[in-house]
Amino acid sequence: MSDDVRIIEMGPRDGLQNEKVAIGIEARIAFVEALVAAGLNTCEVGAFVSPRAVPQMQGSDQVLRAANRLPGEFHVLVPNEKGYEAARAAGAKVVSVFASASEGFSRANINCSIAESIERFKPVLARARADGVKVRGYVSCVLGCPFDGDVKPEAVARVSKQLRDLGCYEISLGDTIGVGTPAKARQLLRVVGSEVPASCLAMHFHDTYGQALANLYAGLEEGVRVIDAAAGGLGGCPYAPGATGNVATEDVVYMLEGMGVAIGVDMDRLLAATNQVSGVIGRPPVSRVATALNARRKTRPN
Ligand code: HMG
Ligand code: MG
Repeated sequence: MSDDVRIIEMGPRDGLQNEKVAIGIEARIAFVEALVAAGLNTCEVGAFVSPRAVPQMQGSDQVLRAANRLPGEFHVLVPNEKGYEAARAAGAKVVSVFASASEGFSRANINCSIAESIERFKPVLARARADGVKVRGYVSCVLGCPFDGDVKPEAVARVSKQLRDLGCYEISLGDTIGVGTPAKARQLLRVVGSEVPASCLAMHFHDTYGQALANLYAGLEEGVRVIDAAAGGLGGCPYAPGATGNVATEDVVYMLEGMGVAIGVDMDRLLAATNQVSGVIGRPPVSRVATALNARRKTRPN
C-alpha cells in the first residue's frame, strides 16, 4: 500500500453535531488545537447551517477563525448560499456542500429533494469559484437510508457525478447509518468509480454495525485514498435515526500503521485530544484502540 493515504478529521463537526450536552466554543477550539497538534491538520471544524436544525454548530464562525490561525486546512459545511456567505465572512477557504443519494434523507436533512439540493449548490459553487474557495461534496446514504432502505450504487454514482460536474474537487461518500459491508462497499466504489475517478473520492463511513474499518480496507484496495474519521469514534447525524459515530481516527491510524502506511499522526497526542473531549462530553471514547491504549496506561502508567 502506498503512503498517499490522507485522513480528514471530522471530530469537531460530525463528532460534536449530535451531542446532547452543550459544548462551549473554547472547548471546541481546544479540541481542534489538540487534533492539529496530533498531526490531523486537515479538519472539518464546523457547519454554517440553520441553528434551529443543528444548534450544536452555533458559533462555528468563532471556531473557524481560531482554526485558521493554526497550520492546516479547515473545512466547514454549507447547505446553501446563506451558509456560504457566513462561512466566507469567517474566513472559510474550503467549504463542503452535502447532498444525499436517497430522497427520504435529503428531505429530512436539508428539507428539499435531491434535484433541488443540486440547484441550491449551483450558486454556492459559482461564488466559490470566483472567490478561489475549494468545494468538497458529500453524498449521504450511499449504502442505505434510514427512510428509503436500500440505495442503488447507480443512484450514488449519479449524484456524485452531478457534484463533480458542478466543480467539487472531491466527493465524500457517506455511509451515514453505517449499514454497509465490505462486498457492498467494494461494489459501490466500482460503480461510482466508473463516473468519478477514485482519486477524487473519499470514504466517510459511520461505524454503527462495526463494519467501517473492513469497508475502508475494501475501499483502499479499490484505490480510494481519502478517509474521513472522527477522534474517539464521535459523531452521528441528528437527522439519521439510529446512526452512531464515524469510524474512529485512532482505529484508522492503527490499521494504516499496521499496513506500513505512514500517516503522520502522533497516536499519544491523538489519544490526548480524544480524552480531552471525552472529559467535556462526559463519556469515554467508543474507539477500540483508544479504549485499549487507555486501559494499558492504567496498568502501565509510564
Ligand atoms: P429550510 O427551513 O428549508 O430553509 O432549511 P429556509 O431557507 O426556508 O430557511 C428557514 C430558516 O433558516 C430561515 O430563518 C433562514 O434564515 C434560516 P427564519 O427566517 O425562519 O428565522 N437559514 C439559515 N440559518 C443559518 N445558516 C444557514 C441557513 N439557511 C437558512 N445556512 C436548511 C434548510 C438546509 C437550512 C436546514 O435544513 C439545515 O440547516 N439543515 C442542516 C442539517 C444538518 O446540518 N445536518 C447534519 C450535517 S449533514 C451530515 O451529518 C452527513 C455527513 O456527515 C455525511 C454522512 O455521514 O452521510 C456530511
Ligand atoms: Mg457523517
